[in-house]
Amino acid sequence: MKNFENNILILFAHPALQNSRVNRHLIKYITDLDGVTFHDLYETYPDFHIDVKREQNLLLENDIIVFHHPLFWFSVPAILREWMDLVLQHMWAYGKTGKALKGKILFNVVTTGGRESLFQHDGIHGNTLVEFLAPIRQSAYVCEMDFLPPFIVHGTRNITQQEITSHGEDYQKIILSLRDGKVDLEAAKLHQRLNSDLKSIIKT
Ligand SMILES: Cc1cc2nc3c(=O)[nH]c(=O)nc-3n(C[C@H](O)[C@H](O)[C@H](O)COP(=O)(O)O)c2cc1C
Repeated sequence: MKNFENNILILFAHPALQNSRVNRHLIKYITDLDGVTFHDLYETYPDFHIDVKREQNLLLENDIIVFHHPLFWFSVPAILREWMDLVLQHMWAYGKTGKALKGKILFNVVTTGGRESLFQHDGIHGNTLVEFLAPIRQSAYVCEMDFLPPFIVHGTRNITQQEITSHGEDYQKIILSLRDGKVDLEAAKLHQRLNSDLKSIIKT
């Protein structure tokens, strides 16, 4: 088996993929990549009985963790929250002896029904998407993980098929670049979103 700079675990949470416009296309770009494990939480745990040991082992085997989900009530879908509550245990993920995730990278891939203009301080939601992700950023901090800005697709109701394809290609590009250690992480952190200017953060 080939060795990659980073193994990537994508934790995908969408409760109704059959009705999806955007995510069902986005995932096509990252499901069959070497060094990338795609893990559909609703498919694996339809009854929400999460196998904590299995999930912790998956985390240990990977260097980069991705929470990929639609934005639900300005937060993550229920199963991802349940996953966090159960899997990120005290003295394992955080606490004096809880160092299992130390140094790993975490970021979100998020789609939103709302347009980008709504997620501004003077927009109807009054906060940016990055600000709405504060509980996840702080959880990453407590687990001593490195938190990157989210990969965002806004305005899912009106987005064109061409735009979805373009986001899918960018998603694949950033995942492969992260896997191969080709992303300038410090440069990436200066952006509001990971996919605002891929050229400026991917090293050639
Ligand atoms: C229960 C629920 C809650 C939602 N909450 C939000 C929200 O807080 N903000 C927002 O912009 N969109 C919200 N949406 C819209 C979804 O984010 C949007 O439908 C999804 O990103 C589209 O992806 P898909 O085409 O893959 O289903 C919500 C949708 C549902 C079903």
